Amino acid sequence: MLVLDAVHAHYGKSHVLHGVSIEVRAGEVVGLLGRNGVGKTTTLKAIMGLVQRTGGRIAFEGRDLAGLPPHGLARLGIAWVPEERRIFRLLTVLENLRTGLDRPGLSAARREVVLEKVYRHFPILRERRDQAGGTLSGGEQQMLAIARAMVLEPKIILLDEPTEGLMPRMVAQIREIVHALHQDGVAILLVEQNVPLTLEAAGRVYIMEKGLVRHHAPAAELRADHGVIHEYLGV
Ligand SMILES: Nc1ncnc2c1ncn2[C@@H]1O[C@H](COP(=O)(O)OP(=O)(O)OP(=O)(O)O)[C@@H](O)[C@H]1O
Ligand SMILES: [Mg+2]
Repeated sequence: MLVLDAVHAHYGKSHVLHGVSIEVRAGEVVGLLGRNGVGKTTTLKAIMGLVQRTGGRIAFEGRDLAGLPPHGLARLGIAWVPEERRIFRLLTVLENLRTGLDRPGLSAARREVVLEKVYRHFPILRERRDQAGGTLSGGEQQMLAIARAMVLEPKIILLDEPTEGLMPRMVAQIREIVHALHQDGVAILLVEQNVPLTLEAAGRVYIMEKGLVRHHAPAAELRADHGVIHEYLGV
């Protein structure tokens, strides 16, 4: 469904991605692991068209994504939850969710159904719906960021380190939501530093090093033989 083929990317003169190839099939959870600074976020930004792509091809359902603006990607069914979460701090929780719900082609009745579904996954967001986004805890903000992606009813969600800095209880909730999305048939490209969570949640895993994919394997294989993880991630 999503194919990155030998993708190169630059920040100005700095060459950061050196031919990254990744594939995510419909409904699949794919992990993307790698140490700090290897280019995981840049890979997601390349998909979103937010970094200068200087080679290779990125296609979604056979269609080249070059030149598409972010709302065009959303319309195709691609949602991105950035590392820094980027919720609207001054808007309430509900207003944050409405930014994704108020779109052409979505009836008022359908909006309510989608909102209700998200609240069912994240009861805390229902409780806090009239509270400003900026007053939420880090974990709640992460949930809001994921919920905002979910109301777009995407085919794939690009999740950038969703558990970073969260307490274990919140990490468990993120794990559950990844599982629930998978059950719903939503594909996920999961960038993480949390290796156990990634090996558990993902079907296949790519490991990046210095702007390149160095290894990819079924998660079950990496779970059975920890040597590869140790070699590339040092854990
Ligand atoms: N806006 C930018 N301008 C210039 N260089 C950048 C910029 N953003 C990232 N880089 C560099 O590009 C490389 C890859 O960064 P990237 O953020 O993709 O790594 P990452 O794998 O997501 O790391 P982390 O685990 O720390 O989030 C790093 O060397 C980083 O310093
Ligand atoms: Mg990153």
